[in-house]
Formats: sequence, structure tokens, C-alpha cells
Amino acid sequence: MPEETLPDGYLISDDPARLDVAAIHAYLTRSYWAAGIPREIVEHAVRGSLCLGLYTAAGEQVGLVRVVTDYATFAWLCDVYVLEPHRGRGLSKALMRAALSHSRLQSVRRFTLATRDAHGLYAQFGFTPVAKPESQMEKRQPQPWQQPAPT
Ligand SMILES: CC(C)(COP(=O)(O)OP(=O)(O)OC[C@H]1O[C@@H](n2cnc3c(N)ncnc32)[C@H](O)[C@@H]1OP(=O)(O)O)[C@@H](O)C(=O)NCCC(=O)NCCS
Repeated sequence: MPEETLPDGYLISDDPARLDVAAIHAYLTRSYWAAGIPREIVEHAVRGSLCLGLYTAAGEQVGLVRVVTDYATFAWLCDVYVLEPHRGRGLSKALMRAALSHSRLQSVRRFTLATRDAHGLYAQFGFTPVAKPESQMEKRQPQPWQQPAPT
């Protein structure tokens, strides 16, 4: 994907060499969905995914969308974040636009994701509640660092 420069010098890039695993881990370990996740797991996850990073003009990584995909039929969007000082400027929407229009994802039939409270963000990109939840299954394998899910 061509790097995309946004207003105020922000940049979105899928270049794996730009990714700052320490910065990604620093956010994810305090996120509600991956609290306490070890850095090695983040590193493996990043290496095995299509990651679009969000960078300031100075090159600091301040956001991410991670896409787990076969680059053909299926994609799972996760680890979407923008650091607090950079929120409210449309940057997560820019990340979503860049991910969904990525040249390597154009034959994907089904994008899925899970969210606690950002449905309004994803709805702007055509995401809806799962049409037939009764046809979906999952198997959870809690890991030592995981807290019980908030109710
Ligand atoms: C969610 C998050 C990525 C939004 O980033 P942002 O760059 O501030 O968002 P944007 O400025 O692009 O705007 C997001 C839009 O989605 C809407 N939205 C819906 N639910 C939202 C939520 N839970 N948080 C933030 N925005 C939300 C906003 O109102 C805004 O709508 P608008 O288009 O009418 O202005 C950011 O708040 C964040 O990192 N939150 C913590 C991590 C998180 O919850 N990630 C999502 C996990 S599924």
C-alpha cells in the first residue's frame, strides 16, 4: 500500500520495518482486551499479521490496526487504538479506511471484529451485528495474564 500522509503530518503505513513493538506493547498491556499481555506474544502477533501503523510527523507510533488474514477470503480486525493525545481527529477512521481499502484485502469476503463499545466507529464502515449468532462458535483458552472479562 502506498504510505498515506494525513493532515498535521500523520502517516499511515503497512511497512513492518516501521512498527515499534515496544510502543504497541505499551498500549496493549493497558488495553481492556489484552491487559498484561507479554511483549513476546505481541511480537509474534505483529509478525504474523498485516499491521497498519499510525505515526506522527516525527515518526512516533501512536496507533495501530492489526489484520489477521489469509489475504484471500477472511480477515479479523483487532488491536485498533489511537493514543489519547491524538484522539478525536478522525485518525481511527483513517486507519479503518486504509485497512479496508488495502490492495491485499480486496478479495476478502468477510471481515470480522469484536468490540466492547466502539460499534459506532465500525458501523460507519459497514460493520453490523453478526446476522446469525447461532451459527458462530468460539473456543476460549484463557492465558495466565488474562483477567476475567468485565461484565
Ligand atoms: C476507539 C478509538 C480507536 C477511536 O480513535 P479516534 O481517532 O479518537 O476516533 P476518530 O476521531 O477517528 O472518530 C471515531 C468515530 O467513531 C465514534 N465512536 C464510536 N464509538 C467510539 C468509541 N468507543 N470510542 C471512540 N469513538 C467512538 C466517534 O464518536 C467518532 O464518530 P464521528 O465519525 O461521528 O466523529 C480510540 O478512542 C481508542 O484508541 N480507544 C481505546 C481503544 C479502543 O477502545 N479501541 C477499539 C477497540 S474495538
